[in-house]
Formats: sequence, C-alpha cells, structure tokens
Amino acid sequence: MAHARSLTTTFFLSFLLLVIFSATTSHAHNITQLLAKHPEFSTFNHYLTATHLAAEINRRQTITVLALDNAAMSSLLSKQYSIYTLKNILSLHVLTDYFGSKKLHQITDGSALTSSMFQATGSASGTSGYVNITDLKGGKVGFGTEDNDGKLNAVYVKSLKEIPYNISILQISQVLTSAEAAAPTATPSDLNLTVIMAKQGCKAFADLLIDTGAKSTFEQNLDGGLTVFCPSDAVVNAFMPRYKNLTAAHKVSLVLYHGVPIYQSLQTLKSSNGVMNTLATDGANKYDFTVQNDGEDVTLKTKVMTAKITATLKDQEPLILFKVNKVLMPRELFKPEPEPVAHAPKAAKAAKANAEENEDADAPVDDSDDQTADNENGVDKINGGKLIWMVLNLCMGIFFM
Ligand SMILES: *[C@@H]1O[C@H](CO)[C@@H](O)[C@H](O)[C@H]1NC(C)=O
Ligand SMILES: *[C@@H]1O[C@H](CO)[C@@H](O)[C@H](O)[C@H]1NC(C)=O
Ligand SMILES: *[C@@H]1O[C@H](CO)[C@@H](O)[C@H](O)[C@H]1NC(C)=O
Ligand SMILES: *[C@@H]1O[C@H](CO)[C@@H](O)[C@H](O)[C@H]1NC(C)=O
Ligand SMILES: *[C@@H]1O[C@H](CO)[C@@H](O)[C@H](O)[C@H]1NC(C)=O
Repeated sequence: MAHARSLTTTFFLSFLLLVIFSATTSHAHNITQLLAKHPEFSTFNHYLTATHLAAEINRRQTITVLALDNAAMSSLLSKQYSIYTLKNILSLHVLTDYFGSKKLHQITDGSALTSSMFQATGSASGTSGYVNITDLKGGKVGFGTEDNDGKLNAVYVKSLKEIPYNISILQISQVLTSAEAAAPTATPSDLNLTVIMAKQGCKAFADLLIDTGAKSTFEQNLDGGLTVFCPSDAVVNAFMPRYKNLTAAHKVSLVLYHGVPIYQSLQTLKSSNGVMNTLATDGANKYDFTVQNDGEDVTLKTKVMTAKITATLKDQEPLILFKVNKVLMPRELFKPEPEPVAHAPKAAKAAKANAEENEDADAPVDDSDDQTADNENGVDKINGGKLIWMVLNLCMGIFFM
C-alpha cells in the first residue's frame, strides 16, 4: 500500500519534472544555430553575432528574420559602414511579427506595414523602421522600408526555416535600405560621456567622474565597450557625507567601481548572472560585485549592500548606461552594516515601507531592513528550492532504478 502510494507520488513528481524541463527548453530558438545549416548565409550569420542582434532575436518570440545571402551581404559590406551602422541596417531585417511563407502570400488587402527591430529599439524616428510588405503580380512579394520613396527594392526568394509562430527565416533578394538606418552613427570618440550622463539625470555622478579624474579611465574604455551603473542625483547627494569621508584614492576607486569595461545589455546581464569585475578591479583589490536576477529585476550585490537596476538611460553600443537605486559600496571600502541586536518586526516593516516610498534614499538603515525583509521572504524560497531538489532526487531515483 505505502509502496504503491510512494510510487504514484514518484510518477507524479517525474511528470512534474518533465513539465518543468519542457517549459524551460521548448521556446528557445537559436538563430546562429538555425542559420549555421545554410553556409550561403554565413556572412549574415556572422554579423548578427557581431552586432549582438542574434541575442535580441533569440530573446524574442514571434519574429521574422529576412536573411541575406553572402552575395547580398558583400554588396552591403562594400559600403564600409561602421559596425554600429551595420547593426541599424541589419535590424531593419528583423520583423517583430511572424510571417511564414504562406502568410506572406495572403496579406490582407495585399499590403502591410510591419515594424522592424530598428523601430522597436527606438533608434528610428517617425515611420522609418517600418517595412512595407506587398503582394505583387505573378506571386511575387516585395519588401521595402517605409522611408524609401515607395520603392520595394527587395523580393522574397525562399523560406529557410519556419517554427510557427515563433520564428521564421525568409531569404530576400537584397538589402533593405533606409536613409536613417544608413546614416552615420556616433563613433565612440563622439560620445561625450559626462554630457550624456548629465542629460540622463546623472549630473551629480558625472561631476564625481570629473572631480576624481576617473573620467579619463571611463573614456579610455569606450572603444572596447563600457557599461556604467549610475545612481541618480538624489541618491548621490544623500551619499555625499560618506563620500567626503573617503581618502582621495578611495574616492577614485568608488567612482571606478560603477563602470564595467565591456558592453553588457540588460538581456546579457539577465542571462549571465555571476561575479563581475569593474574599472576599479586591480589585482588583489577585487572591487567586484555579483549580478543576480531577482524575478524580472536585475540586482547588483556587493558584500555590503544590494542595488537594483531601475532603468536603461542610454543604450548606444559600445556604451550602455543604467540607472541604479543606490551608490554601489564595495567591501574594500565599507563594512557591512551590523545586524540590529533586536528589532520589532512592526517597526522594521514600517521602516521598509518608508524606504520603498523614497526609493532613491540611500540610508544604511534601509540596507539592514532590506536584509531582514529578504530573510523573511527567504523562508518560502528555501522551501520551494527544497521541493525542487526533492523532486530531482526522486526522479533520479526512478531513472537509475
Ligand atoms: C514556440 O514558443 C512557445 C512559447 O514559448 C513554446 O511553448 C513552443 O513550444 C514553441 N514552439 C516550438 C515549435 O518550438
Ligand atoms: C547558439 O548557438 C551557437 C552555435 O551553436 C552557440 O555558440 C551559442 O552559444 C548558442 N546561443 C545560445 C543562447 O544558446
Ligand atoms: C507599400 O508600398 C506600396 C508601393 O509603394 C504602396 O502602394 C502601398 O500603399 C504601401 N503599403 C502600405 C500598407 O503602406
Ligand atoms: C565633453 O563636453 C564638455 C562640456 O561641453 C567639454 O568640456 C569636454 O571637453 C568634452 N569632452 C570631450 C572628450 O569631448
Ligand atoms: C567618517 O569616518 C569616521 C572615522 O572612520 C567615522 O567615525 C564616521 O562615522 C564617518 N562618517 C560618515 C558620515 O560616514
């Protein structure tokens, strides 16, 4: 009896595990892998990776990629565009809707405007970034960008892969052109970091870059890619008493601690959690922090405190600027706040509510309250984790029996 019951439980749990596994694996498509089967698209495939569009494509569902063969790509490459301009042009070739070959030939009223990733990333203004798809005579399908004087300069050639309604890869005859996408983009040396920061509500932090001289270190990293975590003016101002208390060298380190010498999109941060070095990292002085998802949020955990990314202020590869809700405090410069000896839960809750109301505040008291709150919530999380662990163990048991 008992044996039978436990067997049923085990089967149920195995089933649960299968559901969990299939839920996490089924929706993933990998454009690089899908195109790798077609060597005549190797250049296009290479540039999807080089421009980081591949990651964007993999992240999205319901997407159509208008692929260009090596001949079409070489005519594009002959124009010697910068990689940033190439990214804009190629992003016109990624439609944020699903068009299988069948749907393509049965467009309502014979013509449709659909948005591309160039439109979706906010790089385009007005209607540029929209792609016009029109059914033409003799079963042909024409493609053109909306700001191309009504010219449909490319036609559908063939379908390479269709996973309804997740991703469709269709070959088109030629590069879609758009004056705006092909316009020269700012090169890294055109980007004035502190001016951009000030414009995006990080004037106080930009001033710290200038005051400490750390600005030049940030700028030297622009070419190779730079990610900046920028606390808002209110946060920096509230932190000033503690900042002023640091030695000159430590002030520099604190400011450098907010920069990472590679370009990391929000998506990359979400999918590659782990320890991250900063511009302050120097041999034994680690000055690192841990990137970790907390639901949909991305948090940066130092040994002292945890900050949260609250916005993307500027995403212009190779530069990306995130807003964070706290000044990042490295363990090299600050001690973790001691746990309160005793505390009434009610008072802590009230304090936390206050802290949330004033999200920008950066009082150390908030940190310890946050920790307390985390621990309270943690009870459920640990039990959830334990359950999955139990399920895993039970299923392993069944598989190895
Ligand atoms: C398409 O994506 C959905 C949603 O993620 C997923 O459930 C489904 O299995 C995917 N279809 C295929 C054929 O991969
Ligand atoms: C996609 O496939 C390529 C080539 O097989 C691989 O290098 C890459 O890591 C894959 N990307 C993801 C997100 O799995
Ligand atoms: C697409 O372009 C064609 C040719 O210029 C034009 O006739 C048609 O109205 C356009 N379709 C849409 C939906 O704008
Ligand atoms: C950035 O702008 C500031 C203020 O306009 C100027 O003083 C500085 O020289 C500029 N820096 C660069 C690298 O162009
Ligand atoms: C400044 O440093 C001193 C000595 O380490 C310390 O006692 C004081 O609390 C600090 N002040 C602030 C605002 O952190």
